[in-house]
Amino acid sequence: MSDKLGKFIVFEGGEGSGKTTQARLLAEYLQKEGREVLLTKEPGGDEGVCKDIRSLLLNPKYKMSPRAELLLFEADRAQHVESVIRPALEAGKIVISDRFDASTFAYQCGGRKLSCELFAAINKFATQELTPNFTFWLDIDPEIGLKRNVDAAKRDRFELEDLDFHRRVRKGFENYFQLYTTLKAARLEGVFAIETLHSQVLATLENEKII
Ligand code: TYD
Repeated sequence: MSDKLGKFIVFEGGEGSGKTTQARLLAEYLQKEGREVLLTKEPGGDEGVCKDIRSLLLNPKYKMSPRAELLLFEADRAQHVESVIRPALEAGKIVISDRFDASTFAYQCGGRKLSCELFAAINKFATQELTPNFTFWLDIDPEIGLKRNVDAAKRDRFELEDLDFHRRVRKGFENYFQLYTTLKAARLEGVFAIETLHSQVLATLENEKII
């Protein structure tokens, strides 16, 4: 990426890991510093195509084939990169995304047991090889994380999966960061207090000269 481009920061993690809160706190901090920030998420990062794909993906009434699921997440990503993330980076903004491609590796390759090679090829096509400048993995024992999302009536298709699925997702994140060693990334303890994690996020990004 050239220096004129903004920075792309991603928060990853399992259910109830606190990544949404950390993404928001970072965005608020940077905005107060006068930086131009775009806070976004996957799936569902634009008001049209992505939002509709998101509702398909999360709807608990659908029994979806894992292959269809992987393709829909990647379709969402292709649209998100091209219509939201790239233009914001080209405008020099700091883009903060709540989830990106490590989630597909963790959930669809780890959780659903699809092939990593298949993921790599389709993901390369969808992202046009855009990679984050920094990725935070908020790691948490799924038994603890799932209990944080207590409202059973509002559970989506993934939150309804059993503990074994979520254990495979956690292992999937671990494998992802072991495999993609050139990525700049840090693993943080999801059980830590919100303010502690926020300070760790800021210190890491300052050390890495990302912000
Ligand atoms: P969301 O409501 O955004 O949940 P969360 O707060 O946990 O991020 O739902 C996103 C769900 O989609 C979440 O369970 C993880 C899953 N997911 C995948 O399975 N693969 C992916 O590539 C992405 C981006 C998300």
